[in-house]
Amino acid sequence: MLAGKRILLIIGGGIAAYKALDLIRQIRRAGGTVVPVLTHAAEEFVTPLSASALAAEKVYRDLFDLTDEAEMGHIELSRSADLVVVAPATADLMAKMANGHANDLASTLLMATDKRVLIAPAMNVRMWQHPATQRNLATLHKDDVLLAGPEEGEMACGEYGPGRMSEPDEILSHIAAVLRDGPLSGKHVLVTSGPTHEPIDPVRYIANRSSGAQGAALAAALRDLGAKVSFVTGPAAVAAPSGVDVYPVETAKEMLAAVRKALPADAAVFAAAVADWRVENAAKSKMKKDGSGNAPALEFAENPDILATIAKAKKKPKLVVGFAAETDDVIEHATAKRQRKGCDWIVANDVSPGTGIMGGTENAVTLITEHGAEVWPRMGKDAVAEKLATRIAEALS
Ligand code: C5P
Repeated sequence: MLAGKRILLIIGGGIAAYKALDLIRQIRRAGGTVVPVLTHAAEEFVTPLSASALAAEKVYRDLFDLTDEAEMGHIELSRSADLVVVAPATADLMAKMANGHANDLASTLLMATDKRVLIAPAMNVRMWQHPATQRNLATLHKDDVLLAGPEEGEMACGEYGPGRMSEPDEILSHIAAVLRDGPLSGKHVLVTSGPTHEPIDPVRYIANRSSGAQGAALAAALRDLGAKVSFVTGPAAVAAPSGVDVYPVETAKEMLAAVRKALPADAAVFAAAVADWRVENAAKSKMKKDGSGNAPALEFAENPDILATIAKAKKKPKLVVGFAAETDDVIEHATAKRQRKGCDWIVANDVSPGTGIMGGTENAVTLITEHGAEVWPRMGKDAVAEKLATRIAEALS
């Protein structure tokens, strides 16, 4: 079930830490490898020796252990795993994660990782229900952290309610679900997303209203089907999903360079709202008004069309998908765009001001393929992403 998979298991300091030892056994029995990391508080409940013996791996404990840094730095340790699991995730560890602390090995690994993180919370019922913990939970949810449990039941402290850590077999099934091979396993998909910023001078730029929500949802949906996703994103309002390779860029030219570097790919989806023009005479230092009433004249140059460039390139992915944000005659314009840009599919949407689509949570799209136009009902951007990811998986199979 977990053959070849490597789990970085962060054990927090709570009475449920003893269950983490059983989790190590269960992951290994399922074919996976476990690299345990103990917080200082965890060592009050379980010993490094027992974790190490059960995992048959070295246990990591201290950020400043120079031997470890020589062998494997904390950055590498955080990335060498397929999944990071925190069990038990104490209220304190959750607070650190939600607030971006990095003051010990466990919290630093959680900040440095580029992999998905699954937490199995365990704490007293009042601590679980405390507004601070619930606030942190909401933040972690927004940050794409996965959750196993907690369960309701009698607690070690004698109280009853939610807060008990899930049993190891339950956590194991969550791990298996995240790492399960999907229809896009072994495939590499490139996604561009967000707006681009084209500088006018060092402090000003030209931008657009794209939030990056559709691109981020799409990257997450492709990841969930097992794809290795390269996510090339402009300065977006929506955070990049976890578990994808993120390449942040600002300008269209930088986006094209990042896309070229990320190729080859099996499929590429160009969801970015790339600025059509850049300021050719962008100033090297901040432009100042001189009191004469004369405004500076900006000269524009056309940006490279990334989608068209890649669709016509030698290294063209098997499937190239573009987006077309239109305000009128959507199908007609999008069909023409598919021809002109040489891509396989166009996902067209009506972004007229009344639709609330640009920057909103919903999308109403029409998929244009070589077979014609398919009108999809209006739905959440997440649902559009899932449907499109499924279609991409079918096209690549
Ligand atoms: O021509 P238009 O901007 O409407 O085309 C939209 C599609 O082309 C989107 O998929 C967008 O990501 C892509 N595009 C691009 N590079 C540009 C302009 C648009 O990749 N310079």
